[in-house]
Amino acid sequence: MERTLVIVKPDAVQRGLIGEVIARIERTGLKLVALKLSKIDRETAHTHYQEHVNKPFFQGLVNFITSGPVVLAVFEGPNAVSIVRKTMGATNPVDSVPGSIRGDLAISLGRNVIHGSDSPESAEREISIFFSPDEILSYERAIDNWIL
Ligand code: TYD
Ligand code: MG
Repeated sequence: MERTLVIVKPDAVQRGLIGEVIARIERTGLKLVALKLSKIDRETAHTHYQEHVNKPFFQGLVNFITSGPVVLAVFEGPNAVSIVRKTMGATNPVDSVPGSIRGDLAISLGRNVIHGSDSPESAEREISIFFSPDEILSYERAIDNWIL
């Protein structure tokens, strides 16, 4: 079963949007299998965003993601990566459609509320940065037969 990492970014935590963001993903039917409130240090931010290390926005991105508490979550289910990316909306809130998390809740590229892994390979790498295996739960839901 596919898994994906979600980060409720510092702007969303400050704005009181943790529940809103998690609820929107939860409602898709994906299963929440790990969850914690945490503050990302600069070294971990570099590791997590390593693909962007040479981009002009990298320092600003690291400053932002380390600026306050975040909520880290792992969601599991068929096509979890694509389902979360669709629910998030496009990276730039100018392009993300109404109904998506960014389309409804963000107006700035640098303050875009949520991170979601961009591929199953990225997801495995990113999840292992923030969670140990024993923090990821395996459990049945009574409704699974109505969703999966
Ligand atoms: P990226 O991985 O391209 O987007 P996504 O979060 O949708 O996977 O970029 C990571 C974050 O970097 C993005 O959420 C916001 C920030 N960013 C900028 O600040 N400026 C930019 O030009 C881009 C492309 C991203
Ligand atoms: Mg990305």
